[in-house]
Amino acid sequence: MIGLPDFPWDRLTPYKELALEHPGGIVDLSVGTPVDPVPDVVRRALADASDSPGYPLTYGTERLRAAAAGWLRRRHGVTVDPAAVLPLIGSKEFVAWLPTLLGVGPGRRVIFPELAYPTYDVGARLAGAEPYATDGLVALGPERVPLVWVNSPSNPTGRVLPAEHLRKVVSWAREHGAVVASDECYIELGWEEEPISILHPDVCGGSHEGLLAVHSLSKRSNLAGYRAGFVTGDPALVKRLLEVRKHAGMMVPAPVQAAMTAALDDDAHADEQRARYAARRAVLRPALEAAGWRIEHSAAGLYLWASDGTGCWDQVRALAGKGILVAPGEFYGTAGDRHVRIALTASDERIGAAVLRLQ
Ligand SMILES: Cc1ncc(COP(=O)(O)O)c(C=O)c1O
Repeated sequence: MIGLPDFPWDRLTPYKELALEHPGGIVDLSVGTPVDPVPDVVRRALADASDSPGYPLTYGTERLRAAAAGWLRRRHGVTVDPAAVLPLIGSKEFVAWLPTLLGVGPGRRVIFPELAYPTYDVGARLAGAEPYATDGLVALGPERVPLVWVNSPSNPTGRVLPAEHLRKVVSWAREHGAVVASDECYIELGWEEEPISILHPDVCGGSHEGLLAVHSLSKRSNLAGYRAGFVTGDPALVKRLLEVRKHAGMMVPAPVQAAMTAALDDDAHADEQRARYAARRAVLRPALEAAGWRIEHSAAGLYLWASDGTGCWDQVRALAGKGILVAPGEFYGTAGDRHVRIALTASDERIGAAVLRLQ
């Protein structure tokens, strides 16, 4: 068997039990799982496509690829050829398998941020490669590197990488022969700062060579349960990935493809969802600050990255005592050992309960 880290969420169980004892019930802000309804326009598209007896295309329907390219152009100022769009069974699947699909093997380093979504590390290990968490690419020296992950807005910190920073990553990667995979699953959730795609001309100078942008509909459209994402960027890389994914059976079900198409064609539901998160953030953030937590970064995305200066597990315990469950920063890297990650993914009623308990 491949050696993988223990699934860290099990370590949260005792604190979940403590939070569950609260007379007003638990407010679970630990996992970023959407709780608001799947938009009607999407549900209808799924239902209308339910008579799907044949195999779906790994490449996705032409309509889906056009919808993805249209959304990127309309909302993010990014132009891609629809032929360079490839649907994913949610973006986690792709994060976990990209090093393998690219043929990154033993002795090669897969680079990702020091504070990061744990699946970048897992993906490196699944490929037998070496996971390497660093925010300092320059310190790596002249070594050839096969793959660098960036994630803006970041999970867990909500930090947004400005165009200038991303430009430096792209030029470093081009000098070192690296593919840059940019996980942009929170790109529609900019609050104080506006996230920019790696594929935007201000970042990459108009050439997508060596670049991949990974998108997810889980958060934008409440589709985590459908498993819906896509990747686009360098047409040659996407073509290679398509070939392997065809052999490996990595196909998005046809009704989900139809649902994704409807979701990408429609902005009204995404604006509505964004407004829900903005309203929750607007009450939760000041309540945490008034209760002694400092909020760092958190300029975009679905989380507040907070610290009261004590160890992360002490903070988890203190909040669980109030019936509020959060994630310890340590889950995302040792640099997170004095922070907690607090998700905005709870109903207005539950966020309201958390605000009262923090008073
Ligand atoms: C940074 C990041 N990437 C990828 C994912 C996976 O999302 P999904 O598989 O639902 O598209 C998540 C989920 O929370 C995430 O935080």
